Amino acid sequence: MTKPILSVLSGQRLDPPPVWMMRQAGRYLTEYKAVRAEAGSFLDLCYDSDKAAEVTLQPIRFFKMDAAILFADILLVPQAMGGNLWFAEGEGPRFTPVATGQEVEALAGGDPKGILDPVYETVSKVKAGLPSNVTLIGFAGSPWTVATYLVAGRGTPDQAPARKLAHEDPKVMDFLIEKIVAATIPYLKNQIKAGAEVIQLFDSWASFLAPNDFEQLVIAPTARIVSALKDFAPDVPIIGFPRGAGTAIGAYARETGVDALGLDTGVNPEGVNALLPPDMPVQGALDPLALRAGGKALEEGVAACIEGFKDRPHIFNLGHGIHLDTPRENVARAVELLRQKG
Ligand code: CP3
Repeated sequence: MTKPILSVLSGQRLDPPPVWMMRQAGRYLTEYKAVRAEAGSFLDLCYDSDKAAEVTLQPIRFFKMDAAILFADILLVPQAMGGNLWFAEGEGPRFTPVATGQEVEALAGGDPKGILDPVYETVSKVKAGLPSNVTLIGFAGSPWTVATYLVAGRGTPDQAPARKLAHEDPKVMDFLIEKIVAATIPYLKNQIKAGAEVIQLFDSWASFLAPNDFEQLVIAPTARIVSALKDFAPDVPIIGFPRGAGTAIGAYARETGVDALGLDTGVNPEGVNALLPPDMPVQGALDPLALRAGGKALEEGVAACIEGFKDRPHIFNLGHGIHLDTPRENVARAVELLRQKG
């Protein structure tokens, strides 16, 4: 039997759609918090392959999700390139900013050999412990989103520091993006070698870019990664998640070479049908706040999501990650509602 997620990614419609949720491993689970406390810090957890494999598998055990997503972070690649990363408790990620030609020059180029080996070990350990119908998804951040964190030294509401750099010093931005591409390709190849069956590229900050900038900063580097992975492993499907791209999902879908599109909550199904090829699989896009609210908001959200994408291959997911104060019963309820509708 083909795994449900792989069937959908090869173009088949399933009723009900298979399901996983972005950030399905995380602080809304007491069991996650216990393992994280044992590990020490979030980054220690990412580099401890036994513990990272354990938290990857928790949502599979608790909710019978159809996919496991590798437990790691998009910021491990820029850290392995030499970026100075830390997580300020309760505040999210911080970097010593990398925003001048010299600072970009100082980052390591190419494959950050060795440093990311624990991540590949997590992939093999998860693969060994996975039920036979569950798909293992590996991932990386897209170069633009990774660059926004490096340039600003933190998450920003509108990516202004990186957009400023792209306008004021485009050569430096291109150099930075190139270096991230060169580190990301071997990182993803190694995940595939270790057993990842699908790759998702997270472009969480693909919003607010003018069409030309979107072409250069989002589409072109994504296309280079996709093409390198397709040469290496043509049968491994790639899901692109250009969050906040709006109508630019059309160009993204046509030009990057991704097999499927991860949608955010703000993209409506009619728009998707107008912009994407009719048989292109989509993934998404329940509002994480409807999941958090539960009750009627959740029931209506799940129903609307299934209805909206019923005419194309669809993987049910959220439009962004699970909020940390989401009751776990709501996650279980969402999966139950979905499977009842089939
Ligand atoms: O379950 C999963 O989804 C797998 C693991 C995963 C994490 N981060 C774990 C994590 C994945 C796929 C990511 C991707 C990621 N990381 C993205 C892209 C998706 C998105 O959310 O837009 C981004 C932008 C990051 C960067 C990042 N990492 C931020 C902004 C934060 C802080 C936000 C927060 O919730 O604290 C993180 C930390 C992080 N990554 C946590 C987890 C479980 C929380 C850390 C903790 O345990 O304290």
